[in-house]
Amino acid sequence: LKFVCVSNDGIDEHMVWLIGLKNIFARQLPNMPREYIVRLIMDRNHKSVMVIRRNLVVGGITYRPYISQKFGEIAFCAIMADEQVKGYGTRLMNHLKQHARDVDGLSHFLTYADNNAVGYFVKQGFTKEIFLDKERWHGYIKDYDGGILMECKIDPKLPYTD
Ligand code: ACO
Repeated sequence: LKFVCVSNDGIDEHMVWLIGLKNIFARQLPNMPREYIVRLIMDRNHKSVMVIRRNLVVGGITYRPYISQKFGEIAFCAIMADEQVKGYGTRLMNHLKQHARDVDGLSHFLTYADNNAVGYFVKQGFTKEIFLDKERWHGYIKDYDGGILMECKIDPKLPYTD
């Protein structure tokens, strides 16, 4: 089992993983248009943290780091159906936080959570209350009325992964 963070860099293996992740998102997020999923996954401003087992993608999170604003927006998050509620979603989020803090220099995440995923995000430390100054994120993330805006502060020191 491994956790990787890749973007559309043209490396064959990365492209195969990104397509695998796209297929999981398309199935698990049926309200998201497939073209929109493909566009963001392949957009060079976005990165995807993925769980890989026996070289197959089990799930992942696609996000956009806004380096100057020190926050990241999570666009999509999903684990394949028969692997849900086994802890992969939590481990994935911990790898994302570690990478975002140590590589991108981010202090917060924002996401529009689907109603049925609010419980998962709460368990990952997200709140419905937004503490970040609005000027730090307003105009950067696009309004989306299919979900509820949630925030997570990344601990500056905590080791999130072992
Ligand atoms: N609602 C409430 N609690 C949940 C949910 C949920 N939908 N999913 C998981 N949990 C809980 C688990 O019970 C567990 O609680 P525990 O720690 O007390 O045991 C905890 O959250 C973590 O569970 P994991 O096993 O780590 O989560 P999992 O691997 O299933 O990943 C995920 C969670 C990503 C939500 C997965 O279930 C999934 O892909 N769901 C379908 C797609 C989806 O809804 N994605 C999020 C959409 S919003 C967005 O993408 C921005």
